[in-house]
Amino acid sequence: MSESLAVPTNVDESRRTLIAITCGAGAVAGVAVAVPFVESFAPSERAKAAGAPVEVDIGDLKPGELRTVEWRGQPVWLIRRTPEMVASLAQDESQLADPESKRNQDDLTPPYARNRYRSIKPDLFLAVGICTHLGCSPNARFAPGAQPSLPADWPGGFLCPCHGSTFDLAGRVFKNKPAPDNLRVPPHMYVSETKLRIGEDQKA
Ligand code: FES
Repeated sequence: MSESLAVPTNVDESRRTLIAITCGAGAVAGVAVAVPFVESFAPSERAKAAGAPVEVDIGDLKPGELRTVEWRGQPVWLIRRTPEMVASLAQDESQLADPESKRNQDDLTPPYARNRYRSIKPDLFLAVGICTHLGCSPNARFAPGAQPSLPADWPGGFLCPCHGSTFDLAGRVFKNKPAPDNLRVPPHMYVSETKLRIGEDQKA
């Protein structure tokens, strides 16, 4: 038994050399393979650009206008709310599922948008234009009042055509709709009075 575990002392020198060469070659091959493997983890310029912040000039955005820009492959709405649109946000918040934007705050509502307007400035609203139910793109229905698919007391907002979820002009979802959450407000900051950076905020 002890004999079978004994280390042989008479290893052939030529065999020892062959083993050494083979191990060395393996190490070299390992380095050769490892370099592209590590490089494959480095983000490409294209990937970095895809996740990079986007700067948008909003100086010419007119009251009542919605503009869509792309950030990380997603549509981001920029809306210049009129004073009437801003006032509509105070109407009957009891119909909203999450009027104070308390759900999933870290993902959906940055700290500076945790207010009735869900924005830094009451007139300028940003939201990712993707329904929180199954990802359809809601339609703007800014005009208040009765109209197809909407109630008579419609305050103005968005209607998702897929399953009928409705959102107010701050992207807050109405109660008893399939969408579980308010629309997402992306991280953003003012670079100047007329320029916004989307995808980055003061704490970034
Ligand atoms: S995807 Fe918008 S209601 Fe279903």
